[in-house]
Amino acid sequence: MLFRGLTPIAFAVLASAATTVVLPTSSFTSYTTFQQYWNYLYPWGSDHNGSARMIGNSTEHTYISVANNVLTLTAKPAPAGQPPSTSNPHPAIHYFSGTVHAKQQVVVDGTSITGYDVQGEFIASTAKGTWPAFWLTAVNGWPPEADIGEWKGTQQNWFNTFNTSSAVASKIVTWPNDGQFHALKAELRPISGNTKDLSIKYYLDGVLQATHTAANFRGAAMWLILDLQMEGSSGSPGPAAGATFQTRNVQLTKYTP
Ligand SMILES: *[C@@H]1O[C@H](CO)[C@@H](O)[C@H](O)[C@H]1NC(C)=O
Ligand SMILES: *[C@@H]1O[C@H](CO)[C@@H](O)[C@H](O)[C@H]1NC(C)=O
Ligand SMILES: *[C@@H]1O[C@H](CO)[C@@H](O)[C@H](O)[C@H]1NC(C)=O
Repeated sequence: MLFRGLTPIAFAVLASAATTVVLPTSSFTSYTTFQQYWNYLYPWGSDHNGSARMIGNSTEHTYISVANNVLTLTAKPAPAGQPPSTSNPHPAIHYFSGTVHAKQQVVVDGTSITGYDVQGEFIASTAKGTWPAFWLTAVNGWPPEADIGEWKGTQQNWFNTFNTSSAVASKIVTWPNDGQFHALKAELRPISGNTKDLSIKYYLDGVLQATHTAANFRGAAMWLILDLQMEGSSGSPGPAAGATFQTRNVQLTKYTP
């Protein structure tokens, strides 16, 4: 009588798939809830491989702001003469902008049967020279990297899974650029009998777009990042007026079949 003494509800959870919310959709309701679940900037600081330097903290919300359950990242032109990016390949800095990363890391251990769902809704700039993204990247070394949303200055979203820097699966889909929020989701799942690789299913507005096998993602912790980079992979020059990237209903759930 393994289940004797459990309530019917507990039995139902044991008997069928269970989800556990680790980052709730309410994280952008106030700066208090935001700061409970997110850190300002990249895990490694303010700079990366585009022309935007990220600025923001608990008292500076020009580039990173939350209101009405929406996170807005804003890029604005920077005064000339900024020092170049500290990250490879050290591009010139032309903008100040915003980045945040979730405090909760994503990792699927080699023997775990539990996966993750990573999702959100977005209004993303698709202008040339704007490079917003919603992505997972390695905490230690690199890869793994999985890009759930990456807009590279065209009206397309890139779903990318990096086995290595040269073995990359990319699915490019038309982005419905109508000024409305659209949903992106990645389902990260263990593969039965495989302790090294993950299956990642990518969705746009609830419709499956691609299934990638992600080599050696098991046991590798990843950060979840939302950033509004500029130029870099999105071409240049970026817009003189800057750009915005809006996100709502980000949710991270653990999924156990
Ligand atoms: C917040 O960021 C601004 C702009 O970079 C900086 O001047 C200020 O010292 C920072 N405040 C804190 C508390 O870190
Ligand atoms: C990544 O590695 C997996 C597992 O070996 C393989 O199935 C997949 O085809 C690889 N993807 C690319 C783009 O090479
Ligand atoms: C920038 O870095 C990201 C993440 O590490 C990588 O996916 C991308 O290929 C790099 N792009 C350029 C232009 O360096």
